[in-house]
Amino acid sequence: MPRDKLIVALDVDTRDGALALVRELAGQVGFFKVGMELFYGAGSGIVREIIDAGAKVFLDLKLHDIPNTVGRAARVLVRSGASIINVHAAGGSAMMRAARESACEEAGRLGLPMPLVVAVTVLTSIDREAFNRELGFPGEVEDRVKAWALLARESGLDGVVCSPREIGLVRNVCGPDFKIITPGIRPAGAQLGDQRRVMTPGEAVRAGASHIVVGRPVTGAPDRAAAASAVLAEIAEAGLSGGTRWS
Ligand code: C5P
Repeated sequence: MPRDKLIVALDVDTRDGALALVRELAGQVGFFKVGMELFYGAGSGIVREIIDAGAKVFLDLKLHDIPNTVGRAARVLVRSGASIINVHAAGGSAMMRAARESACEEAGRLGLPMPLVVAVTVLTSIDREAFNRELGFPGEVEDRVKAWALLARESGLDGVVCSPREIGLVRNVCGPDFKIITPGIRPAGAQLGDQRRVMTPGEAVRAGASHIVVGRPVTGAPDRAAAASAVLAEIAEAGLSGGTRWS
């Protein structure tokens, strides 16, 4: 369903601002991303309020710490009712397993649905120069993305967050059921803003994305509902033309 594939980023720092967007887009959008700005600005209760308004939440807090700490934090995040939570793959397999296992245990204990647990691979803000010289990794960024996507899968995670240009290589190595969530989406003709390596919604879905994250092209549009509908129409068309297998 196109509606399940579109996640709109609520990049605002107040409860009222976020809920106003959720209400305005309720007819079109059923999935919203809550990142650090909104979570820290509005408090953790914002997740429950969005769910109570009838939508699902991708809680994008990118956990990265020792396995015990991440496991305990994941347990708390599950209680919020979020449908997707995430961690940094750079935290290693023990950390990723701890997140997944703790989330699973807590969901089972409380009778809540198990959220998808996904990993951030290499941040798209890290270019080749920073990757090699500052972080000290040899070789290509893409090889690290591939290796971390595989490590995430081996650690029991459900998928990764990656840039549009990495969708194809992750899909190839991780198979059809692995979730691939991608930001950096710009409908044809939209402002790029600070995004550089972008794809349109249709291109991303055809390349194998299971979910696309769209912020400003929807939330900054003069008619937000119409902008969301246009993205959904592109996703639907890509699904039909490409015979998309990714859910
Ligand atoms: O407004 P825009 O569509 O660029 O928003 C994209 C959202 O995805 C923002 O919340 C941004 O922080 C997030 N994101 C991104 N690129 C990444 C990771 C996250 O744009 N590599």
